[in-house]
Amino acid sequence: MDRLIVKGGNPLRGSTTISGSKNSALPLMAAAILADSPVTINNIPALRDIHTFSRVIALTGTRVDYAPDEHTIRIDSSNLNRPEAPYELVKRMRASFYMLGALLGREGRARVSLPGGCAWGPRPVDLHIRGMEALGAKIELDQGYVIANAPAGGLPGGSFDLSPSSVGATINFILAAVRARRSSRLGNAAIEPDVVVFCELLQKMGAQISGVGTRTIEVQGVDGLNAVSFSNCPDRIELGTFMIAAAIAGETGVPVRFENAYPEHLGKAFVHAFNETGASFNAGDDFVEVSAPGTLRAVSIDTGIYPGFPTDLQAQWTVLLAATEGNAKIRETIYHDRFKHIPELRRMGVNAIVVGNEVAVEGGNRIQGAQVMSTDLRASVSLVLAGLIAENETSVLRVYHLDRGYENLEGKLSDLGADIRREQYDEWADPE
Ligand code: UD1
Repeated sequence: MDRLIVKGGNPLRGSTTISGSKNSALPLMAAAILADSPVTINNIPALRDIHTFSRVIALTGTRVDYAPDEHTIRIDSSNLNRPEAPYELVKRMRASFYMLGALLGREGRARVSLPGGCAWGPRPVDLHIRGMEALGAKIELDQGYVIANAPAGGLPGGSFDLSPSSVGATINFILAAVRARRSSRLGNAAIEPDVVVFCELLQKMGAQISGVGTRTIEVQGVDGLNAVSFSNCPDRIELGTFMIAAAIAGETGVPVRFENAYPEHLGKAFVHAFNETGASFNAGDDFVEVSAPGTLRAVSIDTGIYPGFPTDLQAQWTVLLAATEGNAKIRETIYHDRFKHIPELRRMGVNAIVVGNEVAVEGGNRIQGAQVMSTDLRASVSLVLAGLIAENETSVLRVYHLDRGYENLEGKLSDLGADIRREQYDEWADPE
């Protein structure tokens, strides 16, 4: 297994490039299955999740040419003959559940494993399934699998309201609706940038979708979709993570620059909270510059649906709060017990306490390097951030979690001046 060794204290400076978004790449790949001819997507990150989803798609008989070094993927579903997504792959990555909408939309039938649990508690898919039923699909559960079938002649289309608004359920609904026989409507749809970019690809392929980026999406079914070439957007969560790194580990007043960045995708709440810390934030259309302030102010946040503070950035925000001189709270409103990183951060001296869906952080404590364990993607990166400002060395174990969603994290941080390296280790070896 791999671990990252971070030696704290090096100031970050210079510039790095933000990779393509993981959370939009996966729905874009699912959308490509709906075309009758090859779809090419650029700015696809080189990540484990993209490899996993490529395999899920390829198992259906679809040809997938993923070139991680070129950051492109070409998906040709013209020979799709097996509308299934097996447990062995879905359990590794929940986004595989997008195959339900994609296969139902394209083939009128799908057999997709239910995802099961998640590292931070239950993540239901009931709204995904009820959305498919509202579109006219017949759904059965069979030995852990969802079996979905459209009536003869194809999926009729229909109307559904989400409560709560869900990114995943919005994407699955649209995937199934774009080739339905009639029109469909989704109320309280998600307006996250990932959903908008996904709809833009479908529109380019010929789908009739209106209301994109609003709470009501209407879809007029079309018979087929065309081959196109499309460019994925940059990763807003990677950008937010690096902004936090620069705020806590940059040199006072010296900007760290991020290229290929879309600052507007961060959402108002994150930008507001970030500015409140005193860190300086200067953005253009496709770049962001951040300078660390002399002293960071503690700013409490609540996670929320877009443009609220992203749940995917709250673990990293905990480390920012630990680097301040004040006290503040994080309230998690999307996934109430997404706090697996807290016990690990506490081993490094971070004084953070979880009460219900809140974590209270007392800044100003000495942060010390330690051996810590990755438990999920965003938790892992918060440990690396803590390592950047800790005394001595931090060893972040099980970085396979991190490799799911951060392309070349150690390379990018090294370019910025951090002392970080990757090593292999034996998890079961006795201490030396
Ligand atoms: C969420 C984040 C997304 C992030 C992803 C991975 C939000 C709104 N979404 O997406 O930005 O990239 O985690 O970390 O912040 N729900 C149901 N039934 C369902 C589906 C969802 O009750 O069938 C609930 C969830 O429990 C949650 C809320 O709806 O409380 C939002 O879920 P959703 O947006 O679907 O979550 P993800 O797609 O996992």
